[in-house]
Amino acid sequence: MAITVIVGAQYGDEGKGKMSDYLAKDADFVARFQGGDNAGHTVLNQYGVFKMHLVPCGVFTPGVINFIGTGTAVNPDVLIEELDTLNDVGIDTSELYLSERAQLVLPYHVQLDEQMEARSSGIGTTKRGIGQAYAFKLLRKNPRAGDLRDIDEFERILGEANDIGIPGIDFAIPRSTLERWAERLVPILREPLSLVHGQIAAGKNLLFEGQLGVMKDIDQGIYPFVTSSHTTASYAAVSAGFPARLITDVIGVAKAFESAVGKGHFPTEMGEDEAAPLRGTGENPDDEYGARTGRSRRLGWLDMEVLRFAHKINGFDALALTKLDKLDALAEIKVCTHYASGTSEPVYRAFPGWLSDTTKCKTFDALPTEAQAYVRFIEAELNVPVRWIGNGPVRDDVIAR
Ligand code: GDP
Ligand code: IMO
Ligand code: MG
Repeated sequence: MAITVIVGAQYGDEGKGKMSDYLAKDADFVARFQGGDNAGHTVLNQYGVFKMHLVPCGVFTPGVINFIGTGTAVNPDVLIEELDTLNDVGIDTSELYLSERAQLVLPYHVQLDEQMEARSSGIGTTKRGIGQAYAFKLLRKNPRAGDLRDIDEFERILGEANDIGIPGIDFAIPRSTLERWAERLVPILREPLSLVHGQIAAGKNLLFEGQLGVMKDIDQGIYPFVTSSHTTASYAAVSAGFPARLITDVIGVAKAFESAVGKGHFPTEMGEDEAAPLRGTGENPDDEYGARTGRSRRLGWLDMEVLRFAHKINGFDALALTKLDKLDALAEIKVCTHYASGTSEPVYRAFPGWLSDTTKCKTFDALPTEAQAYVRFIEAELNVPVRWIGNGPVRDDVIAR
């Protein structure tokens, strides 16, 4: 039995989707435990290229149960469309379940997010209504997935939300829409505790696929430029309803450099001339454009202060260092070792580049010595082993150590 949690160690888009798809081979159960379709988790495997929003990346591995857990915020239309897209290319989703306690993201949440983002006080969200759905959850005025079983009850909750009274926001949802959602989603609803505890009792391997990264956690991140959920490992236990001490492995996914989308503090942000070669044009699935919004990602150098912080919060047992190959063409690679005393001004150490192709390397020893030194520096600084190194976007472009 193992309970493994995969989380982002930076600002999101570290490659959690690829690592979840890769590690699903050892899992019986893969779950999303927070966030919603603000996620864009890119997977490239034998079935094609997928940008996953709500469905866990374990769905490509036969025999795995996939679960959208209680702490998530689920837009029914997005989930139905995602299931259709997967089914159209022959992916079996018959063992994909949705917690009856998951919160729903509804059209008025999206509308409100869009309106708030149109103001100068917008924080650069993905405009998917995620923060708004969680806000109504905290007000205890939000329908949950299980409420789709009883449309009258669902409409009563909508009425209570409407009573809050937000000018210009229409809370009504046509009954035909609610019936359509119910028809598709009620059959996949599950009572979450018996499902999760059944897996634990049977000694299964559970994998929790985090969304976003620690710097965007609602409590620990760069508030207010954060998401509205907990992006940290212990929330997997809160969301799924088991004691946090049952988590056996926490895997931090870190990019070999950094990226961030949206506004907010980003100390090691690169200038555009440095960023452009890493970003690419958007033609390739691993170019640095938002998998959800298509926005050009802000890029930065690796920041050890961020990784130390991520480790402090999450307690990593191991790291997956992704996109090492993207540094192949750089003559010099900068790493922020710390911030100048009393500031968040990065102090950099320059590492020599390796100026060679790492994408064909199958073992750590086959990597150029400069690349090995880069990896060893990170693990020595954090005292956490880098167990996986990503050297390409495809599922098996991973050097396992
Ligand atoms: P996530 O949100 O954490 O799942 O990450 P995204 O999918 O949003 O962004 C990560 C991007 O990096 C995707 O385009 C992946 O295909 C790509 N990727 C992940 N690991 C690697 C790697 O090791 N090398 C390369 N070249 N691309 C990678
Ligand atoms: P994955 O799971 C990168 C960012 C938004 C914004 C902030 C709040 O693919 O790593 P929200 O829509 O959540 O209210 O926006 O969080 N953001 C992401 N950035 N990757 C994501 O997901 C993101 N999900 C949200 O850009 O700064
Ligand atoms: Mg992403």
